[in-house]
Amino acid sequence: MKIFVTRKIPGDHLEKLKVDGNEVVISEFDRPLTQEELLDRGKGADILLTLLTDRIDGDLMDAIGPQLKMISNYAVGFDNVDIKAATDRQIVVTNTPSTEVNEAVAEHTWVFIMALARRVVEADEFVRQEGYFAEKGGYKGWEPDLFLGPSILGKTLGIIGLGRIGSMVAKRAKGYNMTVLYNKPKPDPEAEAELGVKFVTLDELYKQSDFLTLHVPLTDQTRHMINENVFNKMKKGAFLINTARGAVVDEKDLVDSIKSGQLGGVALDVFDNEPNIAPELINAPNVILTPHIASATIEARNKMGEQAVKAILDVISDKKPENLVDEAVWNKRRK
Ligand code: DGY
Repeated sequence: MKIFVTRKIPGDHLEKLKVDGNEVVISEFDRPLTQEELLDRGKGADILLTLLTDRIDGDLMDAIGPQLKMISNYAVGFDNVDIKAATDRQIVVTNTPSTEVNEAVAEHTWVFIMALARRVVEADEFVRQEGYFAEKGGYKGWEPDLFLGPSILGKTLGIIGLGRIGSMVAKRAKGYNMTVLYNKPKPDPEAEAELGVKFVTLDELYKQSDFLTLHVPLTDQTRHMINENVFNKMKKGAFLINTARGAVVDEKDLVDSIKSGQLGGVALDVFDNEPNIAPELINAPNVILTPHIASATIEARNKMGEQAVKAILDVISDKKPENLVDEAVWNKRRK
């Protein structure tokens, strides 16, 4: 089997692919490949190990060749792969969801909630501002109103998408005695009993949340679902956190809502057009930006590598892998 890996991943998991005469080709670049490079190196591959920075559409699948039977996507999200095109071609697609990734993203969400409320990033910048060491610039010592922010305790957390990650975010809110509201396609009585959360309509969620956090995949339904209409329904000064996918939020509307003060602060790990970030976001106040690192714990990335490689070895030995994106493909898969 020819296996093309679009970029080296952390750990030594890829070594396990080098068995039974497999030809394993790993991109020589430590950066995302252009479509041309992807095609050039991937052509003739039976299996692709892809990252979320690779765009895998039907044309690329066809250009790689009719022998392409599997795409092992090293990510939980798979909006970078045209799943319908893969299903039409009977190509198996797998992803890498795990407790480790969920914990990591939930953790990062909480880093954001706390950093937003207590203005940690702004305060850090203030202490370091140019001139501090030379002439004691901004920071002159304790001041009664320096970087005031709201307490988290007892506030309302709104979660859109109470799946695995959303639930872990909710669980952590208990320690802060928060009211946790959620919305997902259907109410989830089991989660309500376990986590003490309450299902509300989206409108109610927008209206009541002090902190609104997004945990939905990017689909046609969720693209730009958080837009001007939503911001206008939210409490003035509420906070938005996005560790899901950038395009769930309309970035232009977001910038307007920050500038007008409608939103109190925003923390984003993901962007509409990564790695490009709207310049207004870079300069806006009360905005925390991280470079798509919510899942970047050592444990999560290690697990992702283990799963992406195991899925490939399973498919090679005709064993159904754990995380098939479209289960229905398995019985009619290309061989
Ligand atoms: C995922 O797995 O989808 C994350 O966004 C990547 O870290």
